[in-house]
Amino acid sequence: MTSPATSSRRTFAIISHPDAGKTTLTEKLLLSGGAIHLAGEVKARGQARRARSDWMKIEQQRGISVTSSVMTFARDFDGIGNITFNLLDTPGHEDFSEDTYRTLTAVDSAIMVIDAAKGIEPQTRKLFEVCRMRNVPIITFINKVDREGRPVFEILDEVADALALDVCPMGWPVGMGGTFEGVLDIASGRVSRPEGPSREFLGKVDAGAVLPAEVADEVELAQAGYRAFDLEAYRHGDLTPVYFGSALKNFGVNELILAIATYAPPPRPQPSNQGAIDPASPEVTGFVFKVQANMDPQHRDRIAFMRLVSGTFRRGMRLVPSGLGKPIAVHSPVLFFAQDRGLADSAEAGDIIGIPNHGTLRVGDTLSEKNEVRFVGLPNFAPEILRRVALKDPTKTKQLRKALDDLSEEGVIQVFYPEIGAQWIVGVVGQLQLDVLISRLEAEYKVAAMLEPAPFDTARWLTGSEADLRDFAEFNKSNLAKDRDGDPVFLARSAWDVSYQQERNPALAFGATKER
Ligand code: G4P
Repeated sequence: MTSPATSSRRTFAIISHPDAGKTTLTEKLLLSGGAIHLAGEVKARGQARRARSDWMKIEQQRGISVTSSVMTFARDFDGIGNITFNLLDTPGHEDFSEDTYRTLTAVDSAIMVIDAAKGIEPQTRKLFEVCRMRNVPIITFINKVDREGRPVFEILDEVADALALDVCPMGWPVGMGGTFEGVLDIASGRVSRPEGPSREFLGKVDAGAVLPAEVADEVELAQAGYRAFDLEAYRHGDLTPVYFGSALKNFGVNELILAIATYAPPPRPQPSNQGAIDPASPEVTGFVFKVQANMDPQHRDRIAFMRLVSGTFRRGMRLVPSGLGKPIAVHSPVLFFAQDRGLADSAEAGDIIGIPNHGTLRVGDTLSEKNEVRFVGLPNFAPEILRRVALKDPTKTKQLRKALDDLSEEGVIQVFYPEIGAQWIVGVVGQLQLDVLISRLEAEYKVAAMLEPAPFDTARWLTGSEADLRDFAEFNKSNLAKDRDGDPVFLARSAWDVSYQQERNPALAFGATKER
């Protein structure tokens, strides 16, 4: 059972492809919660952050957001009470999918934003898959209905198809583009309009006199053709409720936040070596899903983002990070508000707190009072691009090693140290990660490096008995490397290479992901 305090938390992420309107929607959600008073502050905050750190240059140049952040805000709802929302922003670019994947391990639900004119893009499908893998239920928000969009049925069918689950339209746009009039709430038959009061219809379907006939027909068809809303099915990840609106016109956003408050699951039990840990369990436990270093180059600060899984955290508390084995006192935990950071005096299950540290906390670490629980399920993903790192100045080897270790820990890249040869290899899921790597090596570690092609296509983590691993190593030394934890990795020339070796070595497991 969850305690009342716990169930007032909603920890969710917004995911979308770039330009679908995630930033605009985030801004409006924060506004609706009274967290900020002026639209544009999310962007302003972004700019201040960019001005502060050099490596964000890439973000600036390409106009995309490459780091996730956390925003906490609260709002009162009639009949529901005060709800605290922890909104985790995710990078919208496919190249940062690893970071996004890990963020999804820390949330209980997600909002998927889709541009009504564009529909679902390939990288968005990938995100859906991760949500499914993690059992993260999705509320879909079809954005930009104030613009000319595609037929609503087409969008809905595409969502159903991409998610391989049922869609349930909760609203219906009345007109689109130039003729846009508002969104009909299917359950109440009320149309809320971009400006002015809402208009009520007598019957949602048979109100043809007021509701444009074609809209009434569409809604009737939709009700017959799609499944009715079912809370269990949504929470179980079998159904996605679909809302329509315009983030820019601040329209439909209220309905969306109300849906999160009403339907989105409160903090859920998290899988561990001791079974699922319930949020109401009294011991304070949590896990680190992200580490961000050098947010401020002046101070070399490093913040570990921890999702609190159970217990009530109080400032100054001593917790044991699993990677360290001895307790640390958490004196300056940070809560992230819209414009500001504040010290967190206490936090509940579901909350995200930032813990400043000097490298003691790593992604995947469990923090707990008793040092017994270990949370599982924070994966590394097999890289899809591998490159050799070449130094322009060979005397900088030590700095490079430190930088690669740091940045792999942060999850910017993965690093592999081959058994034969002196050139280290970095692996990423997307090209942009490599640009960030070079830029950060220069800006933060004063290391000028180049990337050269590596004769490998992908990597697999090897597990098996010591004897089997030894046998394999004997014949495949030139394809073997160690990752930053010293675990053996098979560097493959192709996907074919992987299946060939897998067939020849059935006693070994070739993992495409690795638990952190
Ligand atoms: P992102 O974070 O998902 O990348 O998207 P962002 O919010 O930055 O929005 C991308 C563009 O789409 C922006 O326009 C934004 O104003 C616009 N937009 C967002 N929501 C809506 C909507 O509901 N309706 C319409 N018509 N447009 C919307 P831009 O011109 O690229 O940026 P800006 O100059 O307006 O900031």
